[in-house]
Amino acid sequence: MNSIDHGDISRHTGTHSSPEVPVQRAPILTNHPSRSITLPSPEFFGSIASGAHYAGALSPTHVEHSTSHLPHKRAPSLGADDPIVHETYRGVLEDVKELFCARPSLEIFQRRWRKDAVFEDPLSTAPTPTLFAHEFSLADRVALVSGANRGLGLEMALALVEAGARAVYCIDLPKEPSEEWQKVREYAAKVSGKEGQGRLEYISGSVTDQDGMWKIGESIGNKEGRLDVCVAAAGILKSHTDCLTYPAAQFRQVLDVNTNGVLFTAQAAGQQMARFGNGGSIILIGSMSGSITNKDHAWVSYNSSKSAVLQMARSMACELGPQRIRVNSLSPGHIYTNMTAAYLDSQAHLLEKWASLNPLGRIGRPDELRGVVTWLASDASTFCTGSE
Ligand SMILES: NC(=O)c1ccc[n+]([C@@H]2O[C@H](COP(=O)([O-])OP(=O)(O)OC[C@H]3O[C@@H](n4cnc5c(N)ncnc54)[C@H](O)[C@@H]3O)[C@@H](O)[C@H]2O)c1
Repeated sequence: MNSIDHGDISRHTGTHSSPEVPVQRAPILTNHPSRSITLPSPEFFGSIASGAHYAGALSPTHVEHSTSHLPHKRAPSLGADDPIVHETYRGVLEDVKELFCARPSLEIFQRRWRKDAVFEDPLSTAPTPTLFAHEFSLADRVALVSGANRGLGLEMALALVEAGARAVYCIDLPKEPSEEWQKVREYAAKVSGKEGQGRLEYISGSVTDQDGMWKIGESIGNKEGRLDVCVAAAGILKSHTDCLTYPAAQFRQVLDVNTNGVLFTAQAAGQQMARFGNGGSIILIGSMSGSITNKDHAWVSYNSSKSAVLQMARSMACELGPQRIRVNSLSPGHIYTNMTAAYLDSQAHLLEKWASLNPLGRIGRPDELRGVVTWLASDASTFCTGSE
């Protein structure tokens, strides 16, 4: 039997940030006869009525996933009038439709929690885990990743493929992709369960060319009929130069790639996300250097360019939120790639120094960013935007 258990709410808040907001774990519409439903307390309704935030518990993702528990898995079509869909679900499906709108009304959030929206699925006996099959899955999604001929961009592109993306477009400077990229593509093509999917594509282009990037975005949209994920990873780090005499041309060059190029990349993808109306996730690769300064390194151009990226993410997030386009920045610490190898391979003492600055006592590996980029790209983070 379903039951309402107000007292259980605190135990279900672990993964969400606000302690005063009761959070319900998916699936809301449980299909296990013995599972009880946890509903929020009356105080919760009071808190949302008074303008307190209602958190990700009621995000479209949870509702979307909860509908996957409906019989016959008919919910994704949202066919409220489909005769196969049980009458009981009619109200729920109407709610789901409204929740997919950019600005669902307060009533929809309140109605969502009414007891008559709670039911058991008479056709199943065991619940199916959704976390990796749904929330973290990028099945059929299309992505654009800049700077993905190598390094962090390529690693992230592969992670998106492994998470189920239909196609990941890698944008970088060389006319032809590197041998490393070709090998990764061969590997991606062989990843099991991805027959005919998981394509890694390469397009030569510079992120500093705004028109060119927009055209690339448009061509991907025309070909794939959607564009869901963007990772703006292209970046450069120029050699040490005293800030008091830093040459204008080099300062502009670094900002042109690391700041302007990130904006042009986000625009290229964001325009297509807006065009197809599916929402999307844009991930701007910043750096810890956007928030802290690397002492003993004269990196004024790099540090300034990365700081701008963090604020760009917050600014774009606020503008694009109504279109369900999320924009977050991701700031790695020291990771061993070609960019850092330029220092580490010639100045051996730097490895120990950089490692000592990290709580883990070491520098990172590119593959250690796979999880976070997949989380940000996927529906596992649908209530996360403007975050660093
Ligand atoms: N490696 C680190 O420790 C570290 C730390 C923090 C942030 N980052 C950031 O992560 C991102 C990836 O860095 P990485 O370590 O993989 O470096 P990398 O040098 O290995 O890769 C950067 C890629 O960007 C490409 N690129 C440069 N200019 C471009 C342009 N105009 N248009 C298109 N592509 C261009 C390069 O060709 C290269 O393939 C960068 O934005 C970097 O600032 C790296």
